[in-house]
Amino acid sequence: MSAPTFRIAVLISGSGSNLQAIMDATRTGEIAGEIVLVLSNRPGAAGLTRARQAGIPAEVIDHQPFDTRAAYDQALGQRLAALEPDLIVLAGFMRILTDPLVRTFSGQMINIHPSLLPAYRGLHTHERAIAAGETQHGCSVHYVIPELDAGPVIAQAAIPLTPNDTPATLQARVQAMEHQLYPQVVSWIADGRVALHNDQVWLDGQPLTHPPRITAETEH
Ligand code: GRF
Repeated sequence: MSAPTFRIAVLISGSGSNLQAIMDATRTGEIAGEIVLVLSNRPGAAGLTRARQAGIPAEVIDHQPFDTRAAYDQALGQRLAALEPDLIVLAGFMRILTDPLVRTFSGQMINIHPSLLPAYRGLHTHERAIAAGETQHGCSVHYVIPELDAGPVIAQAAIPLTPNDTPATLQARVQAMEHQLYPQVVSWIADGRVALHNDQVWLDGQPLTHPPRITAETEH
């Protein structure tokens, strides 16, 4: 009997370039799993088209008709629970999730954030890294916990920040790294190499003291 398929749900709000990288990696087999649903809170998200073109089910649960964040998250949670996903991947899903939803999927939900966490949680990370005169910047994949961008980090990718960088150049270079890092982390989880135990990330049977880093040598 073959092993059951590792079921991945991807939540998006926009372009879906990270979704694309993950779709590509499932197609090539780099990720041993299947994207069972792409879900957007915005009807116009370009990532929905990417999914449909690849033959992946894509749905919208528009947040606008919902009166409260709690009501929206309840609807979202019900849809996700019905899917029985092994992993929920937030890929540019631009909503803050409520505690009950996050707790329901504790250890099963990951996010990518454009900074070297714990530095620069929240928005405008590239602008803030430049303004602070950082020499390094990057992105992090972390488990989602109720506190925003504060969950245990699984892995990071770092790039040097040069004096010529603008928020736009930096965003492009960080995103190129995101497209390497995110599929890699999803593949580790699908392979059973990464898990969350008592708020601690474990990789290959060891508690992680420092999240592994992809560095700029592989930047392209
Ligand atoms: C990414 O840059 C990610 O860091 C942030 O949202 C962006 C999503 O981009 N969380 P895309 O929709 O994957 O192109």
